[in-house]
Amino acid sequence: MNDAAVMERPAHLTTVIPDPDMNPVKVEARDVCVFYGAKQALFNVSIDIPERSVTAFIGPSGCGKSTFLRCINRMNDTIDGTRVTGRITLDGRDIYEPSLDVVELRARVGMVFQKPNPFPKSIYDNVAYGPRIHGLARGKAELDAVVEASLRKAGLWNEVKDRLDDPGTGLSGGQQQRLCIARAIAVNPEVILMDEPCSALDPIATARIEELIDELKANYCIIIVTHSMQQAARVSQRTAFFHLGNLVEVGPTQHVFTNPRDTRTHDYITGRFG
Ligand SMILES: Nc1ncnc2c1ncn2[C@@H]1O[C@H](COP(=O)(O)OP(=O)(O)OP(=O)(O)O)[C@@H](O)[C@H]1O
Ligand SMILES: [Mg+2]
Repeated sequence: MNDAAVMERPAHLTTVIPDPDMNPVKVEARDVCVFYGAKQALFNVSIDIPERSVTAFIGPSGCGKSTFLRCINRMNDTIDGTRVTGRITLDGRDIYEPSLDVVELRARVGMVFQKPNPFPKSIYDNVAYGPRIHGLARGKAELDAVVEASLRKAGLWNEVKDRLDDPGTGLSGGQQQRLCIARAIAVNPEVILMDEPCSALDPIATARIEELIDELKANYCIIIVTHSMQQAARVSQRTAFFHLGNLVEVGPTQHVFTNPRDTRTHDYITGRFG
């Protein structure tokens, strides 16, 4: 690789490794910049994220992974002084257009956080919360069915079916994270954003979540932020590498890890920084 040629390019120009097998695009971002007050955290991020597939965001701490993830369901709107420019579409529709219903957007684009955060409610009510708010079930029987189906998809049903009235916070960390995934699934999302969903879990609970992500990708567009390159390699089909607020390189996971085209990606995956 000609390092000089690569590094002479403006830092924000992303290397896109071609992928003929990529699924149709679900989320498209163009020239997304994010400012926290006067500080710019993301620089002209453009990326296509496919449906029914797992995309991993990797990169050193502070490079903007969570910031970009939050742009996709407009969670940055909730942080004072934040400004987002550029364009993000979901199925071709601009998610920042003024007429868009943000509450509905956040149901279509669910989020799972680093630390499992069940509501201080029963297991049942954690999952039923979203469907109730969004009016997705008519009557108790329908709601029961949504709760069961969501817990089954999250791989938790068998462990909790006899204790649905117990508090969600009484579950183990790994179970709580699956409960949070069930809660996200319960409102029929199309995209699931996961920000380091396993970083608070032990290896067994992590393996369980990774299996689950692998199953869920048949039906959802999943984006996972992870500090573990092994995890990115195990669960994702595509990987995006961020550095200092720039999206450096994106492509099929295997290519990004075995044959990166940008020296910054190479240095990160070989452990030279980060
Ligand atoms: N609410 C905020 N106010 C001001 N600056 C912020 C805020 N959130 C993030 N930043 C800054 O924006 C940059 C990107 O942060 P972000 O949290 O997106 O990084 P990250 O890649 O998710 O890091 P980590 O791997 O540590 O989670 C950092 O410089 C960070 O300090
Ligand atoms: Mg983060």
